Amino acid sequence: MTASDQGRASASRETLERGSTPVIAIDGPAASGKGTVALGVADQLGFHYLESGSLYRLVGLAALQDRIALDDEERVAEAAKGLEAAFDGGRIRLRGADVTDAIRSEAVGSAASRVAVFPAVRTALLSGQRAFRRPPGLVAEGRDMGTVVFPDALVKIYVTATPEARAMRRYNQLIEKGNSVIIEGLLRDIRERDARDSARAVAPLRVAADAIVLDTTDMTIGESVVFVLEKYRAAIGKAGR
Ligand code: DC
Repeated sequence: MTASDQGRASASRETLERGSTPVIAIDGPAASGKGTVALGVADQLGFHYLESGSLYRLVGLAALQDRIALDDEERVAEAAKGLEAAFDGGRIRLRGADVTDAIRSEAVGSAASRVAVFPAVRTALLSGQRAFRRPPGLVAEGRDMGTVVFPDALVKIYVTATPEARAMRRYNQLIEKGNSVIIEGLLRDIRERDARDSARAVAPLRVAADAIVLDTTDMTIGESVVFVLEKYRAAIGKAGR
């Protein structure tokens, strides 16, 4: 076998592995609890975990740092293509600096939602997201995991909760961290973000045709995790894995 044959064989093995590696796609609006549920499921199954929102947040932060106008699609897409990000041991780095906490601010969240409307930005982040699909499996969380990034996901869950319940959860998280916040402001931000994420032309937030809706308004995290695990087990049973 020549070196190029070997290269082709290993590339196709990788494609096969990726193709058969199960993905659980968990989408939903801001502060719906999808991140906590996704982490819990990944932990229970020993799967890899992709929090796709962090990539949009990194692009938003890079644009803010470089003083790129958030409506300049071309320059923001350049920033997305050249994103120097690293994920290690739960910490997230941008150009070598630890930005794990910085990307969680409401300002960066709002910048992320603004840059995420651009098709060129979304395309720039696509292959990086798909590279997270590695054995034994992946739990991918975001807005378009089931509709665009992993349309062949084994299980697609759309996590939601009322805007009031989501604002209350965000409020409690922020208060716990010692921030002073006004719940009305959080509710307004959540409604604005929902409207922008749902109304954009490319990969809008929507329930995939084959997704199962999980309304967590009156559910605990533990109950939500069990719900997803049951759906996953039912799906592997059906697929005869
Ligand atoms: O999940 P999050 O709140 O961290 O995401 C921040 C923003 O990034 C969100 O308002 C919209 C955007 N986003 C997206 O467009 N597609 C994704 N798959 C994930 C996030």
